[in-house]
Amino acid sequence: MSERGAFPINIRNATASDLDAVIRLDMDTTGTEKRAYWQEAFARHVAPPYNGRLFLIAEKDGVAVGFIVAETRAWEFGSPPCGWVFALNVATELREHGIASVLFNQLCARLRLAGVDTLRTMVAITNKVNLSFFRSMGMTSGPYIELEKRLE
Ligand SMILES: CC(C)(COP(=O)(O)OP(=O)(O)OC[C@H]1O[C@@H](n2cnc3c(N)ncnc32)[C@H](O)[C@@H]1OP(=O)(O)O)[C@@H](O)C(=O)NCCC(=O)NCCS
Repeated sequence: MSERGAFPINIRNATASDLDAVIRLDMDTTGTEKRAYWQEAFARHVAPPYNGRLFLIAEKDGVAVGFIVAETRAWEFGSPPCGWVFALNVATELREHGIASVLFNQLCARLRLAGVDTLRTMVAITNKVNLSFFRSMGMTSGPYIELEKRLE
């Protein structure tokens, strides 16, 4: 049974000390520890002041329980600048309490303030929960589709 707003959630910028918590949250969802990947993501998104890159942490009682990562990309595939969400995660035991919604809305507010007017992401077609979440946040199919080819 979900209950929104059942406890206070604080949203803040990630700091270097969040690395282990982020790795653990991601591993709990995906089953893979990606230390090198997250170290690189922290190097790009955490240290510098806002430069189109955002890494936000949701905190409950001082503990990191969720995160969202986004960046602004310009002119890829001819697209004017837009925000891209490329990672989102909430602790499994705290899902369906509105934490991701708070993270997402805070991210949108910050991007909007920075002049970004479009947000994109990519979701596995089979991941109904992620699709349902982004749809509930007002995201719909966009003007591009992903193509791929296996390289032998
Ligand atoms: C998707 C995810 C971020 C949602 O987080 P959350 O905090 O539970 O989301 P919220 O409670 O804010 O839910 C907002 C809306 O999303 C949708 N939603 C969330 N969980 C859902 C579920 N299990 N089934 C269907 N819809 C769901 C609902 O529309 C919900 O609105 P409602 O509460 O009014 O019904 C969370 O399930 C998660 O971390 N999943 C793993 C994400 C992942 O795969 N990360 C690795 C790749 S980056």
